Amino acid sequence: MNNGQGIFVTLEGGEGSGKTTVIAKLKGYLESRSIPHIITREPGGIEIAEKIREIILDPSHTAMDARTEALLYAASRSQHLAEKVEPALAEGKLVLCDRFVDSSLVYQGYARGIGMDQVWNINQFAIHDRMPMLTYYLDIEPEAGLARIAASREREVNRLDLEGLPFHHKVREGYLNLAERFSDRIVVIDASQRLEDVEGDIIRSLEERILKDF
Ligand code: TYD
Repeated sequence: MNNGQGIFVTLEGGEGSGKTTVIAKLKGYLESRSIPHIITREPGGIEIAEKIREIILDPSHTAMDARTEALLYAASRSQHLAEKVEPALAEGKLVLCDRFVDSSLVYQGYARGIGMDQVWNINQFAIHDRMPMLTYYLDIEPEAGLARIAASREREVNRLDLEGLPFHHKVREGYLNLAERFSDRIVVIDASQRLEDVEGDIIRSLEERILKDF
């Protein structure tokens, strides 16, 4: 498997799914197994991608159209891929990326209503054929996810956390829909469990599906 071409794995999830904590734990695991890897997220410290992201997040840009937002996410993704992900894969590393194209399909395409197919089309241009070999979707009821955020002192509440519950339900529906369509690639993890168990499920799956050959 590890024949000069690395392995691309992504993590997806709604607000309060525990993605950030789980990724930190996975880092420790990959280090303990001495698996060459990088852990990243868009824009991932890539200057051009950071600048694009600043435009998306600028609170004064209230006029930003949902399609413009989708195009900018795709542009930032393209740059992050070219400068960070592809070189690491070419070195044979495992690349673990916090959110990727599925986030755009779900948030812009489904929850914001542009349409998953349209968002897929622009992203196809941005990512060429680079898709994750495996994607873990951390699934949790939005009520439970938001309660977890409210209870946590470590995490600031962000703009999207404040979207109404119907938005978060749409996000979950979008992810579950994708997971059904791409069941070979997307593994649904029950994120309502204790985070240690979430992490355990992912590690077991990684061992079975990928790391035995790494
Ligand atoms: P952030 O708080 O940085 O991350 P997270 O929720 O992963 O802890 O918020 C990122 C937000 O950006 C998240 O709510 C989803 C949104 N997003 C999109 O709408 N489209 C995208 O393509 C990506 C990558 C993220």
